[in-house]
Amino acid sequence: MKLAISGKGGVGKTLIAGTLSRLFARDNFKVLAIDNDSAMNLSYTLGIDDSTKAKIVPISEMKEMINERTSVSGAESGVYNINPEVSDIPDRFKVEGPDGLQLLVLGGIEEPLSGCLCPENALIRKLLYNLLVKRDEVVVVDFEAGLEHLGRGTAKGIDVMIVVTEPSQKSLDLCHKIIELSKKLGVLNIFLVANKVINDKQIEKINERVREWQVPLYHSLPYDTEIGNADLNGISPIDYNPQSDGMKSLKVLYLKLKALKKELFDL
Ligand SMILES: Nc1ncnc2c1ncn2[C@@H]1O[C@H](COP(=O)(O)OP(=O)(O)OP(=O)(O)O)[C@@H](O)[C@H]1O
Ligand SMILES: [Mg+2]
Repeated sequence: MKLAISGKGGVGKTLIAGTLSRLFARDNFKVLAIDNDSAMNLSYTLGIDDSTKAKIVPISEMKEMINERTSVSGAESGVYNINPEVSDIPDRFKVEGPDGLQLLVLGGIEEPLSGCLCPENALIRKLLYNLLVKRDEVVVVDFEAGLEHLGRGTAKGIDVMIVVTEPSQKSLDLCHKIIELSKKLGVLNIFLVANKVINDKQIEKINERVREWQVPLYHSLPYDTEIGNADLNGISPIDYNPQSDGMKSLKVLYLKLKALKKELFDL
């Protein structure tokens, strides 16, 4: 199953991507977590140990490898291969984390102009396609907010798009755009998840707003000070306090997704 997590900056994408990865791995699924956010902090939420973390080089910064893969022999500068060979990259550069899970850090790309198709972008795009369409693990992608690298082919590989919102209209605005884009690109299961929810009134408001969207609220996660405390102590939230309200609710979300996985794949 390929899961992608998206939403506005700071809503809790990395928390959800990292914790779900841990829960799948703990349940003996083979898991590959993908960090596609320029802040690259999924390794913290996953609880990757410091010495491994120090060794990680994001793929987007492997200039030599990118040049080698995208160069076209004999071509003038500015001409490059937009369909580079990438199938060996995940297994070469992934690192091992707790519960046997694996992490691949793609990193972010600074785009000089919107729509730039520089070699780094071409490689990351192809890599995402490869990860979402060609692999057979549980793949969890912590996406960057704008879904820049999501093309139609790649989107079709996504079995579940989790769109995360905070209880705020601004955050819901972006969710609406992401949901529409995901639908257009052919993603079949799009789930809205509210995070940092303080009371039922907020859930009511969210439900009011999404009534017309055909994507109802799938799950809501409470605001949980233990998640902030974990962050402050540099410890993965699931290791810091697995019994906190937020972690308990994430386990419920995990069980829903596991049931869906069974429905979709175990014929
Ligand atoms: N349910 C929650 N309760 C309390 N704090 C939370 C909760 N979820 C996330 N946080 C805190 O909110 C902050 C943002 O969370 P996170 O990094 O997961 O969001 P993000 O969407 O990945 O952000 P970015 O767009 O910057 O990558 C973190 O400090 C995290 O500890
Ligand atoms: Mg993040």
